[in-house]
This record gives sequence, C-alpha cells and structure tokens, in this order.
Amino acid sequence: MDFKQHIASIPGFPKEGIIFRDVTPLLEDKDAFKACIDDLAAHAKDLGVDVVVGPESRGFIFGCPVALELGCGFVPIRKPGKLPRETVSKKYDLEYGSNEIFMHKDSIKPGMKVLIVDDLLATGGTVEAAAALIEEMGGEVVGMEFVIELEELKATEKLSKYNIYSQVKY
Ligand code: ADE
Repeated sequence: MDFKQHIASIPGFPKEGIIFRDVTPLLEDKDAFKACIDDLAAHAKDLGVDVVVGPESRGFIFGCPVALELGCGFVPIRKPGKLPRETVSKKYDLEYGSNEIFMHKDSIKPGMKVLIVDDLLATGGTVEAAAALIEEMGGEVVGMEFVIELEELKATEKLSKYNIYSQVKY
C-alpha cells in the first residue's frame, strides 16, 4: 500500500516554513489504517518483542494496535504530571528550551526486548531519550518504528545504533 497517499501535507502549519505531515486521513481510512498497523507489526515480528513503548500522544494511536497484533503489552511514555506511580524521567533539549519524558519505574523489567513506535521521526530527541530510559531500566531496544520519517533532519545518524523502520519518507 502507498501510505503517502493517505498523509496530508499542510504548508505553514503550525508556523511558516513548516510542512505539517498529517496522519489523520490514514487513521480515518479503515483499510489504510489496518494495512499500516499490519505492516508495522510484520516488520517487527522476528525481533522477539516483549513490549511496545509509545510516546504521548500519537505514539499511543499506532503503538497500541501494533502491541495487540504482536501479542504483547504496551507502555506509555508521558509528559510531566500524568503518571500516578513512581516514575523515571529524562530531559532532552529542543531547538528552544527542553522537554522531559516520564515512564513508570517498574514498566520495563531487565532483559525485556522493547519496540518503540511513534507516528513521526523528526529530530529524534524524544525517542533517543526514550531509548536511554529503557536502557537504564535494563531493557533492550530491539527496534524503532515510525509511520513518517523527515529525512532532512537526519535523526537516523544520531540513532545509528538502533534498528529503524519508517513507512514513508519525506
Ligand atoms: N513533528 C515535527 N515535525 C513535524 C511535521 N513536519 N509534521 C508533523 N509533525 C511534526
């Protein structure tokens, strides 16, 4: 399936100079959404995944069905103040300012094989921080999957030690 056909490109959103890649048309189309999830799961089926990790919020939309299809659980990565139990966190720099991501401290057990799923790979800051958190908890990041990769931001260079699959590249 040509997934690009189901992604809308909106120049100037949310600000001038950005072309926003919008996955909502893909989600609205039952066949395209199913094919997308099937394809992500198929690319991970031989990795021995124990758990899928997805960052808030679009990582939930794609990560949860992939986890179900692989027959494993799902662990959310959240913004500050959302998780009710003891957490671990990691700060990372943005172009202006910084972000901090949180996971429940007991969510990844030592030796677990982890697949990170998100909708879009831009600079890779979030998934790099996520991988570091997972590794600090003793997990092994066996793959990272994205619907969209923005190649000009060269995230795969800083994530070169990881096994990365992106369905659509711009
Ligand atoms: N996140 C970062 N860059 C983006 C883009 N161009 N479109 C959609 N989401 C993004």
